[in-house]
Amino acid sequence: MQSYRVDPGTVYHRVCSEVGLLKKDVVFPIFIQEQGTKVQHVNMMPGTKTVPLSETINQVQKVLDAGITSIIIFGIPAKHDHTGCHASKKNGIVQRALQLIKNKFGNLINVTTDVCLCQYNFSGHCGVLYDNGKVDNDSTLGFLSDIALSHAQAGADIVAPSSMMDGQVLSIRKSLNKYGFTKTRILSFSAKFHSSLYGPFRSATFSKKCNYNKLDKSSYQLAYTNQKETMREIQNDIKEGADMVMIKPAMAYLDIIYMIKEKLKFPLAVQNVSGEYAMVKAAARRGWIEEEDVKVNSIVSMKRAGADKIISYFAMDIARYLE
Ligand code: PBG
Ligand code: ZN
Repeated sequence: MQSYRVDPGTVYHRVCSEVGLLKKDVVFPIFIQEQGTKVQHVNMMPGTKTVPLSETINQVQKVLDAGITSIIIFGIPAKHDHTGCHASKKNGIVQRALQLIKNKFGNLINVTTDVCLCQYNFSGHCGVLYDNGKVDNDSTLGFLSDIALSHAQAGADIVAPSSMMDGQVLSIRKSLNKYGFTKTRILSFSAKFHSSLYGPFRSATFSKKCNYNKLDKSSYQLAYTNQKETMREIQNDIKEGADMVMIKPAMAYLDIIYMIKEKLKFPLAVQNVSGEYAMVKAAARRGWIEEEDVKVNSIVSMKRAGADKIISYFAMDIARYLE
């Protein structure tokens, strides 16, 4: 019998084009560290690194060379305090990175920033805390608005509040508008489900300051059992002025992605989170699954379900199959 071989790259290229997955649909996350001058590898996320300011331009250049034009920045500050107020400093790590990137690349790259306090405070929680250790929703809003504004001033195209505080979109929209940043868009992490799939991200961004395995964010992140609450959170964010909403994690939430896109027909992003990446990498490294196949299959499923934008640590890997 004649053996018949097809180049896997050709197959994946065809699969991606059949569901209409394009390079412009994917967003690559970049971790930028304030400390040190060396690129650090993230243990729990093989192939992923955190880059110092001095390597930022190189990193973004690689993204552009792969044909990807959108990134999301996560900052890893050197200093922490009780409230996390360094997050809105003019010379903070994200703000400096934004200035560098925008000076060099301008509109060639679309930059989204993660807006939250958890990388910047001692606790690792996404808001400021009452004395009893609970998160104080309303006091957190002012901090988030200040962070978003500082990112806009430094050149962010899109600010993405990820803290899951009620009212975060409205509060940010008002302060952006007040200072003339009416064109800065808001991508709200609207339906962020409480999940241990954020573990590898936390290992990379706040392992040095707190025991991230003990963090319980269930009082403000969503329960995956509650569909009505999911719908309500997303509708609220849209009413408050979000330009795009997000659901995360992605792989175990495809039904929610599909349902929200069908019902609301609103611009929808998903984040394929660190734990989803780690699972694929861990199994593939042992030879238990075929990495490229699973990567393509999972990213394609998000597009098929209805996501307009897919934030994924796999974005660079799969770019070679995309048009
Ligand atoms: C910060 C933030 C987190 C993630 C995105 N923004 C961590 C958290 O909420 O604890 C998770 C991303 C990932 O796991 O890839 N609020
Ligand atoms: Zn947070």
